[in-house]
Amino acid sequence: MQSVSKTPSIRTIEKVIDETPTVRTIIISDSNLENALPGQFAMVWIPGINELPMSVMITEEKGKAAFTVRKRGLSSTALYDLKAGQQIGVRGPYGNAFDIKDGKIALVGGGTGLVPLMRLAKFAKPTNDITILMGSKSKDEVFFEGLANRILGDKKHQVIATTEDGSYGERGFVTDVLENLVKSTKFDAIYTCGPEIMMHKIVQLANSKGIFVQASLERMMKCGIGICGSCCMDEVLVCHDGTIFDGKFLAISQEFGHTHRAKSGILENY
Ligand SMILES: Cc1cc2nc3c(=O)[nH]c(=O)nc-3n(C[C@H](O)[C@H](O)[C@H](O)COP(=O)(O)OP(=O)(O)OC[C@H]3O[C@@H](n4cnc5c(N)ncnc54)[C@H](O)[C@@H]3O)c2cc1C
Ligand code: FES
Repeated sequence: MQSVSKTPSIRTIEKVIDETPTVRTIIISDSNLENALPGQFAMVWIPGINELPMSVMITEEKGKAAFTVRKRGLSSTALYDLKAGQQIGVRGPYGNAFDIKDGKIALVGGGTGLVPLMRLAKFAKPTNDITILMGSKSKDEVFFEGLANRILGDKKHQVIATTEDGSYGERGFVTDVLENLVKSTKFDAIYTCGPEIMMHKIVQLANSKGIFVQASLERMMKCGIGICGSCCMDEVLVCHDGTIFDGKFLAISQEFGHTHRAKSGILENY
């Protein structure tokens, strides 16, 4: 059975990998998080700064876990700036997991939304035929392409990088590339994580074609374990009832793709 830590365990950062000019992966030893299910997250404490929810990233080494962080505001930048030898606190893994279907599956990620999808790819069934669509703004923000090809190895797969400015891979939004792809390929399931506007389009597209779809959602999280209510969306708590929801539920959500709560709890439009 999976072990879940409810209080932070202090971990020393062992390695930091520069993925892009704004994204880094930090590696720790943690056999508990190493075994996180695809799509699960942890709460990561940056001492003296804040605690942030982070998807648990895969590593290529046994006994290790990782987080891939994009520097954005104060807290994520503080995490991004940490060096090997410094410490963080981790608790988890929390949340549900992707329901991996048989057959042809598409994983569609934007930016660090690729993190939970990489774990999904690692846990994919031997019978899956996997298409990974990676959305980035430009060539220097493309990451995980080599890693995706390595972990999928001999499994039937293709990795398609897309850039909004056309500087690498296919030009355009990942949603447009997916829309073209579903015209010629019959997918059994689509999984997505990234900006909510992107996920909203993907869920609408999949629902309209009758394709099973799941999206991993982000909401403001403080406790991460269903107590504080800061991650509420409609009638659910995203940290506890998700973070992964399927297309049928999202189709009737009043908030998905439209509103989310700010740090104060006030509803804001996307
Ligand atoms: C389940 C989950 C998994 C995540 N996984 C990753 C990941 O793998 N890599 C990554 O770089 N980021 C991830 N994030 C986002 C990350 O937690 C932060 O939101 C983001 O790094 C910005 O934080 P900040 O405080 O630096 O930015 P700020 O400038 O302070 O905030 C920018 C925005 O980030 C969001 N945010 C800030 N604090 C939180 C919080 N406590 N909970 C949720 N959202 C918040 C809000 O929308 C806010 O408007 C994840 C979020 C969730 C909910
Ligand atoms: S973050 Fe506290 S209930 Fe979800």
